[in-house]
Amino acid sequence: MVRLVTLLTAAACLLGSARACYEQCTISAFQGVPPRPLPKRPALQARRAPPPPLLRALQPPLQLKRRAPRPSRPLPQARLPRHPLAHPVTGSRSVTLTLKLQGFDITSTKPSSANVFGNPAYPGYTACGSVTNWIDEMIVSYNESYIYSYNFAYGGATIDAALVTPYTSTVKSMTDQVNDFLTNVGPKPSYAPWTSSNSIFSFFIGINDIGNSWYQSGDRAAFSDTLLNAYFALVQKVYAVGGRNFLFINIPCVDRSPYMKSQGSSTTAAEKIVLDGFNTKLAAKITAWKATVSGVNTWLYDSNKKLGQILDAPTSYGFQDGTSYGSATNLAWCNDYHVSPGVHHYFATDVKNILAGTGF
Ligand SMILES: *[C@@H]1O[C@H](CO)[C@@H](O)[C@H](O)[C@H]1NC(C)=O
Repeated sequence: MVRLVTLLTAAACLLGSARACYEQCTISAFQGVPPRPLPKRPALQARRAPPPPLLRALQPPLQLKRRAPRPSRPLPQARLPRHPLAHPVTGSRSVTLTLKLQGFDITSTKPSSANVFGNPAYPGYTACGSVTNWIDEMIVSYNESYIYSYNFAYGGATIDAALVTPYTSTVKSMTDQVNDFLTNVGPKPSYAPWTSSNSIFSFFIGINDIGNSWYQSGDRAAFSDTLLNAYFALVQKVYAVGGRNFLFINIPCVDRSPYMKSQGSSTTAAEKIVLDGFNTKLAAKITAWKATVSGVNTWLYDSNKKLGQILDAPTSYGFQDGTSYGSATNLAWCNDYHVSPGVHHYFATDVKNILAGTGF
């Protein structure tokens, strides 16, 4: 049977009081009509198969292939604001933010066998530059079927700009991203004939929401409820047009990032309380929401726990330590706020295991 999985990733990146653009994504994957028959191969066997070149390249020792800058599009760095933003807590640190993740434009070239992400040229752009991140590996290496990705992730995204203002007004929030999905892909156009069963929607959002607000006055726990209500109102919209498979990724422990650590332990401890509170509420929200709908499959990936494990024992994961950053392949951070492609590789591996046997 030929199977085509189209994945829609609406990601939002976080960026916040620190810079960060993790891709917080919303992925919706659709399986549609496959461009060609898939080779017969049991899913289990596929999982045991030797890793494809990309994966091998990412495994320690990490040897990431870097793509040359595309002259037609500015590199992510070119989009970084050069004006420092005062850090809300210390007022001493500038926040430069991030870049558009992946750089996908739904109005441009659609995903196809030539590029399952559609555009830009693989691997697109990330907060670490033109390198792979977890979704790249999920779609082209750990995939159990042929998958097309609609990745709406956007660097610096918050759930709703009216709730948490992004670092710059042009950032597409998760609300914008879901609306782009609903407008373009939701109606199941000929280029994306997705169905409820052949699609998965993933959401990796919240870093910038908490990063840009945890220090504010007021009841932070109540505000996390407000954020999650907005979050799940969007999830409900995706459900309303047929989404049934949902992958949620919580907020990694960016309170342990080099940038946050430079703010001092009292600052990181204060952020951690709000961040952990959001993650606890996210898990409960997923359970509560699932009880109100039917036919839904949900998965929650605990990126916070995995990053914590890596930072607790970096050398056992192939990293020299938990605090250095740069482009070297043995570093856990590519800059002072974003985890490296090497850490993304571990995220991808975990997500692969969580989705094992699902066809995604
Ligand atoms: C996984 O994706 C790659 C890249 O699109 C594709 O070549 C490969 O056939 C896919 N694997 C399966 C099992 O469909």
